[in-house]
Amino acid sequence: MKAIVYSRYGGPEVLEVREVPKPVPREDEVLIRIRATTVTSGDWRARSLDAPAGFGLMSRLFFGITGPRQPILGTELAGEVEAVGKAVTRFKAGDAVFGFTGAAMGCHAEYRCMPERGPLAHKPSKLTYEEAAAISFGGTTALSFLRRAEVRRGDRVLVNGASGAVGTAAVQLAKHFGAEVTGVCSAGNLELVRSLGADAAIDYATEDFTRNGVKYDVILDTAGTAPFSRSEGSLREGGRLVLVLASLPELLSAPWSSWTSKRKIIAGPVTDQRSEDLGFLAALVEEGKLRLVIDRRYPFDRAAEAHRHVDTGHKRGSVVLTLDEDLARASHPA
Ligand SMILES: NC(=O)c1ccc[n+]([C@@H]2O[C@H](COP(=O)([O-])OP(=O)(O)OC[C@H]3O[C@@H](n4cnc5c(N)ncnc54)[C@H](OP(=O)(O)O)[C@@H]3O)[C@@H](O)[C@H]2O)c1
Repeated sequence: MKAIVYSRYGGPEVLEVREVPKPVPREDEVLIRIRATTVTSGDWRARSLDAPAGFGLMSRLFFGITGPRQPILGTELAGEVEAVGKAVTRFKAGDAVFGFTGAAMGCHAEYRCMPERGPLAHKPSKLTYEEAAAISFGGTTALSFLRRAEVRRGDRVLVNGASGAVGTAAVQLAKHFGAEVTGVCSAGNLELVRSLGADAAIDYATEDFTRNGVKYDVILDTAGTAPFSRSEGSLREGGRLVLVLASLPELLSAPWSSWTSKRKIIAGPVTDQRSEDLGFLAALVEEGKLRLVIDRRYPFDRAAEAHRHVDTGHKRGSVVLTLDEDLARASHPA
């Protein structure tokens, strides 16, 4: 099968399209023929080893000391089940599915095996493969952090970095949980963020949300520009600061800052993605309560171009790689 492979860390030029062995499902696994996948900020970090401050060594230990341990990137997929292992009961050949492999990656390929009990769900018939592929990364990250922050009806929530994959999901999920939401982004994305349901949108280049006098119950930072030292004064007593992107010093000082300030800091990786969460997110999409923002679509063999766009740190929602070549070329011509 074809896969996008990398054997050394670096820029998008390290990516190559190569033939690799097609995987064979174990007893409890399904073999998925991938129709669409995404390039995320997670792929950028794993490819470049560009980690938040203080995480350089840990990141190398995690992804591979001398080179990548997993040569195929990609955390999200949507496609059809081609075969199932003997013990599989939830899926059968021909089912349309979408799933999330997280740190195990391996979705930038024509096929991927996944355990049937992992974060894998039936694709809602209303969604295209491209849309379904874009549900999980931002959706499960935002969902996990909003749950940890115990966002409740009436809470005032600020999402810093509201136009990316995590931010677009966080704005909509916080609204779904009944919060009053403010999104912070660049001028060109204000309209997008409002269209996702944000009650207010702030252009970070012209207004500093920490100086406008407004206090929030929850500040969720996906951009790494709202650490506790900056956000503390904008949090109500009992408020929660959610650092989706945190440096090691911020992570280590979080318990002390939380204890001494009557505000709670929530940080660290998301590790609790479940198939029920994918079902929950898909149902919201079907009900029209969660809109998937797809910035650009690229044909599979032009993955390096997709990475170049993701590397800017300014994508809107998700960047999709499609294995349906005709569709991809029509929507993103050379
Ligand atoms: N903790 C975890 O488990 C976990 C899980 C997933 C992701 N992450 C991390 O979360 C971060 C965000 O991920 P993502 O996939 O959402 O990234 P993304 O899609 O690239 O979005 C990043 C967003 O940040 C905004 N931004 C850039 N500079 C900003 C600033 N100065 N102020 C406010 N917003 C700014 C950009 O909006 P504009 O274009 O409008 O500037 C962009 O939309 C990444 O660093 C990723 O590594 C952590």
